[in-house]
Amino acid sequence: MKTETQTESIHVPSARTLLNSFKPGAVWPDNKGVHINAHGGGALFHEGVYYWFGEHKIEGDAGNAAHVGVHVYSSRDLYNWADAGIALAVNDDPQSPIARGCILERPKVIFNPRTKRFVMWFHLEPKDAGYSGSLSGVAVGANVTGPFQFQRAFRPNAGVWPMNVADADKRELGAAEFERIGTMDLGGGPRPYYPKQLLFRRDFVGGQMARDMTLFVDDDGAAYHIYSSEGNGTLHISLLSDDYLAPAGKYVRVLPGRFNEAPAMLKWRGRYFMFTSDCTGWAPNPARLLAADSIWGPWEELGNPCIGDGPQIVNTFESQSTFVLPVAGKRDAFIFMADRWRPENAIDGRYVWLPIEFRHGVPAISWRDEWSLDEINPAGSAGWSVS
Ligand code: GAL
Repeated sequence: MKTETQTESIHVPSARTLLNSFKPGAVWPDNKGVHINAHGGGALFHEGVYYWFGEHKIEGDAGNAAHVGVHVYSSRDLYNWADAGIALAVNDDPQSPIARGCILERPKVIFNPRTKRFVMWFHLEPKDAGYSGSLSGVAVGANVTGPFQFQRAFRPNAGVWPMNVADADKRELGAAEFERIGTMDLGGGPRPYYPKQLLFRRDFVGGQMARDMTLFVDDDGAAYHIYSSEGNGTLHISLLSDDYLAPAGKYVRVLPGRFNEAPAMLKWRGRYFMFTSDCTGWAPNPARLLAADSIWGPWEELGNPCIGDGPQIVNTFESQSTFVLPVAGKRDAFIFMADRWRPENAIDGRYVWLPIEFRHGVPAISWRDEWSLDEINPAGSAGWSVS
């Protein structure tokens, strides 16, 4: 007769039971039992399947750079993810813009119905140049899980003035102003002396800086590239061309000098909402919620969307936004996707996924140790805590 202990011991460690809940911040095993490796990611729903794309990290602080590429996972239920491999691999050629060891962050993939191609955009910093490049990378795939082909890396909107600046500001910088910027410390965060009207003019010819980013496809199929620009001080929302491969030449500046990054957009009942964070590197900080009736603005800042009485609300539950995932077939159902970075051992970064609730017509996020899609919207029609 088997004792209790013996019964326990016959469990095969690799035998995996299906997951049926989200556990924000916990290790999240894939179908092979390995913690999911898709940081700073986003999701795409295509033909009944969700695909989660993100930065593949390796161990240690070396893992903050790209040594492998963009990892993709697939799922039908959002809890159980199958490893679908590397969608975009870094290049072994040291001359390649995506050479192994470059910084490749916040990849997002959208599907273009006209070209039937999957289009990936990401933030790219060439190897060994810190964050000075501030480039956007574009890759294209015929299959959703790849392999994606790298197309090019560039600074968007070269030679194009933002739609929402005064004519008087539509002029390139003079030498004296250029000099002035050169000696300024623009890093870190809000500065009272941040030169709100200078950087987009400085970068008019070469293209605008583009770091933390997301993509958003509107109801009419128009896609937008949303990126932290101008030394992280100002977000840009930039329309993409019909094939989604390039900027279309129309963009706006959002809240100049407010230092928003980690943008994640949703549209709810005709209104646009954007989660962002402050700029504090890998360290978490209080989330922000922005809102607008038109994607072109004006955008207003509504404050911190995190609610509840736990101490974690001050730093977004120890995480930073990366994407808003609309739950297919469920009205008013969106998931706030965020990263709990572990810069000292990047591969151990965790995922904080929480349901977006709507309070008095605006999104809010509260902490849950564990939750499932069923408990949030049991009636399937009333929406998630809509009030
Ligand atoms: C964060 C940003 C991350 C990464 C990091 C590097 O502010 O959101 O994507 O760039 O800085 O320090």
